[in-house]
Amino acid sequence: MTLWAGRFEGGPADALLAFTSSLDVDRRMAGDDLVGSRAHVRGLARVGLLDADEAAAVLGALDAVESELAAGTFVFAPGDEDVHTAVERRVTELAGPAGAKLHTGRSRNDQVATDLRLWCKRELLVVSEAVLAFQQVLVERALAAGGAYLPGYTHLQRAQPVLLAHHLLAHGWALARDVDRLLDARRRLDVSPLGAGALAGSSLPLDPDGVAADLGFAARFENSLDAVSDRDFVAESLFALTLLGVHLSRIGEEVVLWSSDEVGFLGLDDAWSTGSSMLPQKKNPDIAELARGRSGRLIGHLTGLLATLKGLPLAYNRDLQEDKEPLFDAVEQMVLALGALGGLLATATFRTEVMQEAADGPVVAATDLAEHLVAGGMPFREAHAVVGGLVRASLEPGGPPLAELVGGHEQLGPAGVALLEPGAAVLRRTTPGGAGPAPVAVQLERFQARLDADRARVGALRAPGVAP
Ligand code: ARG
Repeated sequence: MTLWAGRFEGGPADALLAFTSSLDVDRRMAGDDLVGSRAHVRGLARVGLLDADEAAAVLGALDAVESELAAGTFVFAPGDEDVHTAVERRVTELAGPAGAKLHTGRSRNDQVATDLRLWCKRELLVVSEAVLAFQQVLVERALAAGGAYLPGYTHLQRAQPVLLAHHLLAHGWALARDVDRLLDARRRLDVSPLGAGALAGSSLPLDPDGVAADLGFAARFENSLDAVSDRDFVAESLFALTLLGVHLSRIGEEVVLWSSDEVGFLGLDDAWSTGSSMLPQKKNPDIAELARGRSGRLIGHLTGLLATLKGLPLAYNRDLQEDKEPLFDAVEQMVLALGALGGLLATATFRTEVMQEAADGPVVAATDLAEHLVAGGMPFREAHAVVGGLVRASLEPGGPPLAELVGGHEQLGPAGVALLEPGAAVLRRTTPGGAGPAPVAVQLERFQARLDADRARVGALRAPGVAP
């Protein structure tokens, strides 16, 4: 039986149910639905809409539903179009007339918004923890990398040498912003919609403030129309997840590049790479490619949701049911991607000798030669032109090695040649936040402090007594 059978003479068409049902997607919010329903029941009891016996009966039935769901014995009925319908049906079966009071003053519109916010509060923390674990891998690899260096690139052309630790931490900081964004989205979505009803509140003496506090929300809604039609929180969460996906994609791209025979900076562990069904020699970076590929899916989820939202009049429209599938998938894919890519990075071999050889090519020190001239008083533009000319001459067919030209240059000479020595240039990146050993040592400390602080932030939100 549908929830609206009173108004209708006939039952729903099979094709209607097949098209409109969201049970397969939203059943994973069952736990949140129970949490929301318990708070609603307690709220109804506080204002006298349920007496103590009725409240106890309904709460008992909600507990029974929880046990059945946990044991896998909960039977979904063919007409259960979503998890809210299924839970209410079963509660009514178990608690009888008292169960029929569960939905007093409540609509699935405020119910589903409540459930989804509870779900987000918990799951965004799960993703944040997965990001923190990934960052831990980066920082451990950065610490272990010591003084190893590689070429830094612009336009994918060798530019200046950077410490490997510096390169790894660059990704770490991007992920720190992701944690911040996830927690920020979580903070803004920490508002209870329960009590908004279908769209306009209720004639019954509901207590949305009490229910919000009971559920551990920071506040209740201010406007019932907004409460049931707002999916900003899904869009924001999806954006934070998608940008995280984009960051993992960029890491994935570098792993693909670095592990190629052409570059050879990275060797992949057997357990974290894949072979080919036909080509016996292959060892493929599939995790990295899928981290890159799957971020496209998340971008689709985000833009799809925004397109769904853009034309909706207030208040609830069934279009809003389309919010959950992309959100759930985005969370799931990010947790999977962080685990897999984290494992890959934790076990990969950095071929630092290959990296350093690439970084020791003389032209990578060109900027240092120019800066040496600047230190001697030459305007930078002039110094740039002088060194550019030497590089051009050395690259001409049959041209002399750069070191020879530098050695013979009046203002460069032996001091200039010393700058071309392997490993010399990276030591000269000394400015705060720069790529050399001195600033990177400071950066490592700051990064670890940030990681500890973020762990504490997430831990405090998870602490006992703080709702999901
Ligand atoms: N399954 C629906 C959703 O996810 C629940 C709300 C249904 N509300 C309604 N008025 N039909 O949005």
